[in-house]
Amino acid sequence: MKVDVLLGLQWGDEGKGKVVDVLTPNYDVVARFQGGPNAGHTLEFEGQKYVLRSIPSGIFQGDKVNIIGNGVVLDPALFKAEAEALEASGHDLKERLHISKKAHLILPTHRILDAAYEAAKGAAKVGTTGKGIGPTYTDKVSRNGLRVGDILHDFEKKYAAAKARHEQILKSLNYEYDITQLEKEWMEGIEYLKRFHLVDSEHEINNLLKDGKSVLCEGAQGTMLDVDFGSYPFVTSSNTVCAGACTGLGVAPNKIGEVFGIMKAYCTRVGSGPFPTELFDETGKTIRAIGHEYGAVTGRERRCGWIDLVALKYAIMVNGVTQLIMMKSDVLDGFDTVKACVSYKVNGEEIDYFPYDINEGIEPVYVEMPGWKTDMTKMTSEDEFPEEFNAYMSFLESELETPIKIVSVGPDREQTIVRYTEKD
Ligand code: GDP
Ligand code: IMO
Ligand code: MG
Repeated sequence: MKVDVLLGLQWGDEGKGKVVDVLTPNYDVVARFQGGPNAGHTLEFEGQKYVLRSIPSGIFQGDKVNIIGNGVVLDPALFKAEAEALEASGHDLKERLHISKKAHLILPTHRILDAAYEAAKGAAKVGTTGKGIGPTYTDKVSRNGLRVGDILHDFEKKYAAAKARHEQILKSLNYEYDITQLEKEWMEGIEYLKRFHLVDSEHEINNLLKDGKSVLCEGAQGTMLDVDFGSYPFVTSSNTVCAGACTGLGVAPNKIGEVFGIMKAYCTRVGSGPFPTELFDETGKTIRAIGHEYGAVTGRERRCGWIDLVALKYAIMVNGVTQLIMMKSDVLDGFDTVKACVSYKVNGEEIDYFPYDINEGIEPVYVEMPGWKTDMTKMTSEDEFPEEFNAYMSFLESELETPIKIVSVGPDREQTIVRYTEKD
């Protein structure tokens, strides 16, 4: 069997959590491969709303196994709070949630360092989620990290050494902090972690594949936040692209099957950094209000703009996307016209590829199309789609040279329309 990968094509918050939940019945296993509690994946069903940060979004569907892979960074305190809230609402995790021993631990001092580095950057700050993501991945790559497997042997000593090293850095930055409460909750989180199956997830996943089981890999963040291919340095610290599923789970590249690319019918970004199609006018505000574009983790306002096909083509290329899933189409229901950016003007020259630097001087070139002016939120089949919406989708499909297979018309699990395929 192969694994399918589901990932964001924009700057995160495309609606990955919702789609993973919808697709989970087709799979035996769901696995997160990168990121950490910087993610906020929202699911809505049966009148309930859940926001998942470290736990994969397949956790609500039956008895499916959910794996937190080696590429993820885990904060035991935040994990405990998230898991306990789920357990309190009747979802048993202990047997179904497996955690890689190779996943790196976010220490309390990583969170403090995240804040200290951001403060030191001043106006050039990344606008991180403050969850210690950058410092934890930095320690991983510089071979100083602590892993989940470390909690099982000689942990106190390893923790003390890492903390002392971080304290030295914080001292050199003259950064004031109080670690007492953070550390107390973190230590409780470490104890709590021990009740779960701490596994060699690369073995587990490959054995499952050998046994004919199907696996869905869930990405966090989005391609434009990828540390290599995103809008560097305004990115996260992991590989959010499809290849991240290989390194973050121990799955070989030739085991990748379908790659589901998730995009909104428009575009958003939270935090600092370039965003060529950002709207600073009433239209941007309207999209934010209708789409409830506020961060699931931080509550920060998301910046809003039109869909950017130049960036999407690039994202489709680096991920090998085989099918597109378009989210939040309903948010554009009331607009007279909608726009899609088809190329950039850089110093007066029109280009249709994603350039090295999008930090300055990019002017988006738009195609404007009639809006559909129809409430799509109660639709259940593509037969009901208005003509103008079909025209918008056909335009995107032809520009992006990739089919849109699922259309989402609202936050609820049920508000999801799977389109016909040739064999239907
Ligand atoms: P993720 O991080 O990619 O999982 O996305 P988030 O959960 O951060 O943000 C997506 C937001 O849009 C959440 O509040 C979802 O409940 C909501 N959402 C998802 N799909 C749709 C949709 O089709 N229409 C509308 N209106 N909201 C949606
Ligand atoms: P999901 O999985 C949107 C952004 C932050 C910041 C940058 C770096 O919900 O789509 P970090 O804390 O990772 O060091 O912050 O990345 N960012 C996200 N934006 N959705 C996310 O996750 C994000 N995770 C990080 O706002 O600009
Ligand atoms: Mg999110």
